[in-house]
This record gives sequence, C-alpha cells and structure tokens, in this order.
Amino acid sequence: MVLKCLFGCIGRSSRNTSVLTGTNADEKRRHKTTAEPQSKEAFVESQRLSDSSDSVASSLPSRRKAPITALCVVAKHTYGIAADIPYPSIDTSDEVLIRTHAVGLNPIDWKSVDYNFCMPSFPWIGGRELAGTVEEVGSNVKELKVGDRVWASTYYRDRRAGTFQEFCVVPQHTVLPLPPRLSFDAGACLGVAALTAAMTLWKWLHVTVPISFSEAHTTAASAGPRHILIWGGSTVTGQFAIQLARHSGLSVIAVTSEKTATLAARLGAEHVITRDHRTNDEIAAAVRAIAEDDLTLAIDIVGNTTGACCLTALSTTRPGVLAPLAFLKDAEVIPQNVSIAPVEMKRFIIEDGNRLYAEALNRLVGSGVVTVPEVEVLHGGLQRVEEGLQTLKRGDLSGRKLVVRIA
Ligand SMILES: NC(=O)c1ccc[n+]([C@@H]2O[C@H](COP(=O)([O-])OP(=O)(O)OC[C@H]3O[C@@H](n4cnc5c(N)ncnc54)[C@H](OP(=O)(O)O)[C@@H]3O)[C@@H](O)[C@H]2O)c1
Repeated sequence: MVLKCLFGCIGRSSRNTSVLTGTNADEKRRHKTTAEPQSKEAFVESQRLSDSSDSVASSLPSRRKAPITALCVVAKHTYGIAADIPYPSIDTSDEVLIRTHAVGLNPIDWKSVDYNFCMPSFPWIGGRELAGTVEEVGSNVKELKVGDRVWASTYYRDRRAGTFQEFCVVPQHTVLPLPPRLSFDAGACLGVAALTAAMTLWKWLHVTVPISFSEAHTTAASAGPRHILIWGGSTVTGQFAIQLARHSGLSVIAVTSEKTATLAARLGAEHVITRDHRTNDEIAAAVRAIAEDDLTLAIDIVGNTTGACCLTALSTTRPGVLAPLAFLKDAEVIPQNVSIAPVEMKRFIIEDGNRLYAEALNRLVGSGVVTVPEVEVLHGGLQRVEEGLQTLKRGDLSGRKLVVRIA
C-alpha cells in the first residue's frame, strides 16, 4: 500500500496524504466509469461546491469538521490510505451522513480495482456496504435521527458514498434501521449479498415475499414442490438466497463443494450437489435427475461457464428464468422458453421504490428467520481492507463473510 499526494508526490511514510473532495457535485460532471486523474482546477472547484452545500442539512453544526481517513484507489491498481479527506457534506435534503462502524468486503471491491472499472476518476473511494450510526440528516429525513444504528447499501457513482471511509453520505431510502439483535459486524453483511439475493428472488424472479415462516411452509405443502437451482450455494449471496427461497416455499437445489455441502443443507437446501468430482455438465445432469424437466428458476452465483450449464438444467418446455449474478457470455444461446433476469443492483440506489425489498429483508433478518453467514472480523480499521480484499480474492473462506471493523 502506498500513501499518495493528490498532485503527484508518492511516498510510503508521509502522513500528509491525498486530498479528496467529499461532494457529488463534481461527480455529476463526470460520466465515464473508467478512472482518470483529477485536475487541480477540478479539485479546487469541487472543494468550493462542497463548502457551499451546508444549508440542506438540518442538523449540521456550523463548525468545520476535521478531515477524515479513507482507503482510496489512488491510481490504476493502487490503494493508498489518505488521512485528510474533507469531511463529507450533505448536499441534498434527502441524504444521511453515517459514521462507519463496520464494512463488508465483496468480490466487486477487488475486481473493480484489478480490472479498473466503476471508478469515475482517481483518487476514488470504494466499498458498497456498511453498518454504522447516523451522524447527521438532511432536512427532509424524518424517519432517521442522529445516533440511530443503521445499515446501508451504496453505489460507486458518488465518492461520498464509498464505504471505505470513516463517514459517508447516502440517500435516505438506502439506509435501514439495524435490527436490535444484529451487531454492526453482522449488519455490514446485508447491503450487497443479502440485498442482491432478496431482490433477485423477489423483484427479478418474481418469487413471493414470505410474510412469515409458517405461511411459507403452508404454501409449499399445498402447491407441491417448485424447484430453484442455486449454483454457488455456499457463496455469501447463495447462503442468503437459499434461506430466502426456502422461506418462500421453494425446494432448493444447491451446488457447492464437499466442504460446504452441510452448510447449504443446514440453511435449507433440500438437495445439495457437490462439485468436487463432477464436471459442470455432470452437475447439470444431476439437477435434471432431481427436477426432471420441471426446473423453471435458476440463479448462477459463480460465473464463466456455470451460467450456461444452468440453462441446460432448466426445463425445455416450461417458461424459465435464469439470474446470472456473476457472468454470462453475451454470445450464449438462450433457449426460446428461457429469459434472463436483468439483475442490476444499482436499481436499489436510483429507484427509491425498491426500498420495500430491503425492508422485507430487514424484517426476516430482524426476526431471526434469516441468519447472517459466519462473519470473520478484521480489526484495525481501514488499514486492513486491502489485506481483506486479497484474502477474498484467494477465495478460501468456505462460506465465511469478511468484515472490517472501522470504529
Ligand atoms: N450482480 C450483482 O449485483 C452481484 C451481487 C453479489 C455478488 N455478485 C457476484 O456473485 C459472485 C459471488 O459473490 P459472493 O460475495 O456471494 O461470493 P463469495 O462468498 O466470495 O464466494 C466464494 C465461494 O464461491 C464458491 N465457489 C467457487 N467456485 C464454485 C463453483 N464452481 N461452484 C459452486 N460454488 C463455487 C466457493 O464455495 P465452496 O466453499 O463451496 O467451494 C467459495 O466459498 C461474485 O462473482 C460476485 O461478484 C454479483
């Protein structure tokens, strides 16, 4: 990791590190998603805009806040801790400023740095989920107050919303109360994997949202089993998807390794197909042996070739739908009776009506009907994030979720 000054000097020991603006005003002027350096003029202008935005925050004290620390992507493939990020400002009346207590790590965090996407400019601040406490609210925020424990799901387009910093600013509809039974570490798991699983099932696969556990079982018993294939059942996303699908009355067929098969079964998968000594085609055949030609729902959480294999497991006669969460080649031939679910998690941020999915998820997690995966906590703050992302990239977590404690 290097420490970087915004205007050129790079060093490993200086504490006078990079300076970032905390506004989204400069972000609005940018449309590209490939990172590029920010000019000094752009920086100064965005700093000015940042200074002028205080009036919309009803509870902003008038004193200037001390700079904060963030883990930045300072250049292509390069992280740096910056200790002098301007305190982020609330720019619209619907925004909430959150003090970060714990952040969840996700594959997209390291992929976007390795492959240089989802970073409109350098330096940028990544991180898409957190749990923390409300520090300030905009004048139109009525249901959250200073001090509330919350979790949030964020989006890469606004640098103020990157969660790898001590404070971040996000729209109010993306902020949920943290259920009392959940720690900050557990709450930091909800914004990406859990919400993706929930929206994939309920919004894009049109699976019924269960109101209660008992109702889900009644539905399943009366309607007969309806299968769903979850390829990657032990991924963090898969663990939430298994539980949510099960509670919606579906019979889950999960694909995992041998070492995580019992985990998937414990979470509610009725059938677990282990992949260790099977080709993907053999796995698809095993799915067909269970569901016959009746499988109409599939989620692929692994990618490259497994999405195509899900297609071969789906019914050849009934209308089916595949949600490819990881990767599906554009050139893949899609059978006429199958549609591809257009899963785009940015919808949660840009369409406030999708909050209802997060609220339903929050009820299930808050009541203990859905449990959070085993969490491995890295202590030591933002300095541990880069190391955590490397661990995640190696992929040897066997279903555990990596969370970094910030405060
Ligand atoms: N589109 C979206 O918005 C969205 C949202 C969330 C996640 N994702 C994507 O979904 C993927 C998973 O993310 P995550 O955070 O849930 O993952 P994760 O927990 O980091 O996934 C790691 C797990 O993947 C499993 N795995 C690897 N190869 C497999 C295979 N061939 N078959 C079955 N399981 C396999 C391994 O399970 P075993 O221990 O069983 O080997 C490993 O424990 C990533 O590519 C991520 O980018 C996309």
